[in-house]
Amino acid sequence: MVELKHISKVFQTNDGDFQALKDVNLQIPDGEIYGIIGMSGAGKSTLVRCINMLERPTEGEVLINGQNLCTMNEAQLRAQRRSITMIFQQFNLLMQRTCLKNVCFPMEISGVRKADAAKRAMELLELVGLPDKANAYPAQLSGGQKQRVAIARALATDPKVLLCDEATSALDPNTTHAILQLISDINKRLGITAIIITHQMSVIEEICSHVAILDHGLVVEEGSVKEIFANPKTETAKRLVFPNSDVHPAQLKSNRVLRVVFNGGTSYEPLIASLAIDCGVKANILGAETKNVNGQAFGYMLLGLPDSSIDYSRALSYIRSRDGVSAEEVPDYAV
Ligand SMILES: Nc1ncnc2c1ncn2[C@@H]1O[C@H](COP(=O)(O)OP(=O)(O)OP(=O)(O)O)[C@@H](O)[C@H]1O
Ligand SMILES: [Mg+2]
Repeated sequence: MVELKHISKVFQTNDGDFQALKDVNLQIPDGEIYGIIGMSGAGKSTLVRCINMLERPTEGEVLINGQNLCTMNEAQLRAQRRSITMIFQQFNLLMQRTCLKNVCFPMEISGVRKADAAKRAMELLELVGLPDKANAYPAQLSGGQKQRVAIARALATDPKVLLCDEATSALDPNTTHAILQLISDINKRLGITAIIITHQMSVIEEICSHVAILDHGLVVEEGSVKEIFANPKTETAKRLVFPNSDVHPAQLKSNRVLRVVFNGGTSYEPLIASLAIDCGVKANILGAETKNVNGQAFGYMLLGLPDSSIDYSRALSYIRSRDGVSAEEVPDYAV
C-alpha cells in the first residue's frame, strides 16, 4: 500500500514561496492501477516525485507498506527506489547504450552479475515485445518502442510500484493504447501497482480503477473511476470528464437547460423519444458526449427544454425517475 499523509510541498522561488501541493492524502492499495489527473501545473509531477522522494515533501509522510520514506537516509532511499520505479514522457533512455544495456543498467548499479543481468534483461525485452531490438540503440526505435524499453528497464529491479508520469503523452492514440495495454498486462501478470499520471481522461478511462483529481495542488475529488464518471461533483472534475459540455450559447439558445448524466447503464434508452411520447415534452439536444468504461455507458446530454415551468418540471421528474440516469439544472446557461 502506498499512503500519502498530509503531503505539502513548498518551492522557494525568486518571487517568494510557491505551494505546489496542499495537504494531499491518498491511499493506493497494492495491485491497483491508480490514476492522478489534473491540468498542466496542477502538481502531478511534483506529487509523483514526492512518492519516490526525488522531491522531499515540505510536510507530511510517504508510507510504502507502512515504512516512512521521509525518515530514511540516502542509502535506504536508494534501496527503496528499486521497488518504486518510474517511466517518463520523454523515455529518458541512455542513448549511448543498446536496448539490452539500458535494461541491464539498474541491475549493474545494484550489483547483479553481468551475465545474470543480461539474461534477465533479455527476458524483460521479451515481456515488452521487443526481443529483436536488444542490440539496437534508442535512436533507432519509434516512440512506442522506446517506452517499451523504458518499461523493461523499470521492471529490472522487480519493483512493487511503477510510477508513470505522462508515459503516453508523446505517443499517438494507437501507440498510447498499446502501451496502456502493456502496463495493464504487467499489472495483472506481475501484480505491480501502477500509478498513472496524466492530463487525459481517456487514459484514466482505459485502464484505471481509481482516480484522484488534482487542482492547484489540492485533491478535489477521489474515488472509483466509475463513481467519478457517473457523478463528477467539482467544476474541475466536470471539465475533465465532459470537456466539450460548454456549447456556445449564441449558437443554441435555450432558457432552461438540463444536464442529463448516464450513470453506467448497459444501454441507452431512447430518452428523448420517450420524453416526447410519455410526457409530451419536446427537448432539444444542445450537446452530448458518451463514453464506454469497461462496457458500461457513461456520458451526458445537454437538453434545452421549453420555457413552460410545467413542461420543465414534468421533464425533470420523468428523467429522474429513470434508472441509471440523473439530471441537474444548468443555471445561467443562456446568459
Ligand atoms: N523546482 C521548482 N521550483 C519552483 N516551482 C516549481 C518547481 N517544480 C514545480 N514547480 C511549480 O509547481 C507547480 C506544479 O508543477 P508540476 O510540474 O508538478 O505540474 P504538473 O501537474 O506535472 O504539470 P504538467 O501537466 O504541465 O506536467 C507549477 O506551478 C510549477 O511551476
Ligand atoms: Mg508534469
